[in-house]
Amino acid sequence: MKRALQVGLPLLLIGAALAYYQLSQPHTPQALFLKRCSTCHALPDLSGYQKEELAPLVQFMRTHNGAYRVISDAEAPVIIAYLESRWPISTSSADPDPSMILIQTSRTQ
Ligand code: HEC
Repeated sequence: MKRALQVGLPLLLIGAALAYYQLSQPHTPQALFLKRCSTCHALPDLSGYQKEELAPLVQFMRTHNGAYRVISDAEAPVIIAYLESRWPISTSSADPDPSMILIQTSRTQ
C-alpha cells in the first residue's frame, strides 16, 4: 500500500499537471491566433494586408520581433493557414474589435 502511494501519487500529480497544461492551451486555429498574436500587442488589425503578405508577416514577428518565444514552429503554419482562410479580413467601423471582425468575415475567395 505504501509502495503504491509512493509510485502512484507522483504519477497522479504529473498526470494532473499534464491535463491542466493541455486544457490551458488554445485548441483551435482561431484560438491560437487570438491568444498568440495578442501576447505582445493588441490583436492586430490585418485588414490592410494582402493574402500573400500574411505568411511573411507571421514569420517576421518570429524572426525580428521575438515571437519565436511565443509561437512555436508547429503553431506558425496553423496561424498562417487560419489567416489565409479568413482573407480578405475586412474591418467594420460598427465593430471595433478585430477578433469579432475575423469571426464574422465569411470565406469569399
Ligand atoms: C513576441 C512579441 C510579439 C508577438 C507574439 C507578435 N508580435 Fe506583432 N509585433 C511585435 C512588435 C515588437 C511589433 C513592432 C512594434 C509594435 O508595433 O508594437 C509588432 C508589430 C506588429 C504589426 C504592425 C506591423 C507594422 O508594420 O506596423 C502587426 C500587423 C503584427 N505585429 C502582427 C502580429 C501577428 C499577426 C502576430 C501573431 C502571428 C504577432 N504580431 C505576434 C511583437 C510581437
